[in-house]
Amino acid sequence: MSDGYTTRPLTSETWDDFAGLVEAHNGVWGGCWCMGFHPEGFGDSPDANRAAKRTHTERGSVHQVLVYDGDECVGWCQYGSPAELPHIKNAAKYAQGAAEPPRWRIGCIFTGSKHRGRGVASAAVAGALDAIRAAGGGVVEAYPEQTVDRPPQRGAYLHTGPEELYAGFGFVRDRQIAKWRWVMRAEV
Ligand SMILES: CC(C)(COP(=O)(O)OP(=O)(O)OC[C@H]1O[C@@H](n2cnc3c(N)ncnc32)[C@H](O)[C@@H]1OP(=O)(O)O)[C@@H](O)C(=O)NCCC(=O)NCCS
Repeated sequence: MSDGYTTRPLTSETWDDFAGLVEAHNGVWGGCWCMGFHPEGFGDSPDANRAAKRTHTERGSVHQVLVYDGDECVGWCQYGSPAELPHIKNAAKYAQGAAEPPRWRIGCIFTGSKHRGRGVASAAVAGALDAIRAAGGGVVEAYPEQTVDRPPQRGAYLHTGPEELYAGFGFVRDRQIAKWRWVMRAEV
């Protein structure tokens, strides 16, 4: 855990904190509300995405670690089983090389724009891995982007995180599924 941050799961009790962070960023990506990995994917509008995310939260079909700086929610890391988070980018390429499916996958990761570069995403991933461990552990996949040997990328584009973030937790490259995207795996 990084200095000073605490974590809590996204639940009905923490929904307002999560919603406040998303709304402060115009819904994130114009209103995705972190719905892209969920079974129904993106809805027709930001309001539809918000409602769908809220429904998942209320019925407990989302796993997401929220990071707090004091009382302020400043970031999150989404994780879950492949059935809970079926839609990864580059799915066709992913399917070509797939062997044993992982027990868990990490989906979207997000840090509030004023809080980047200070370990929030690291705290979020640490919290997600702790929760996975507490739920029995197993193989975890992440789908981050390579940043080395590539022009510098603004954080805004790294919706599944940079490779360095996961390497720091012992994830190793499994295979490449896009020009700059890798499947990385760790056993927890
Ligand atoms: C990518 C992102 C999550 C990083 O969050 P952060 O809190 O700034 O990351 P941290 O400070 O915890 O850094 C973690 C590691 O990633 C690396 N990193 C962070 N941003 C990076 C960047 N833009 N390029 C290269 N590496 C980067 C850090 O150097 C650090 O590596 P280290 O441990 O080897 O030093 C953040 O920029 C972000 O939220 N971008 C938008 C993503 C998005 O749109 N998500 C939508 C989800 S629906």
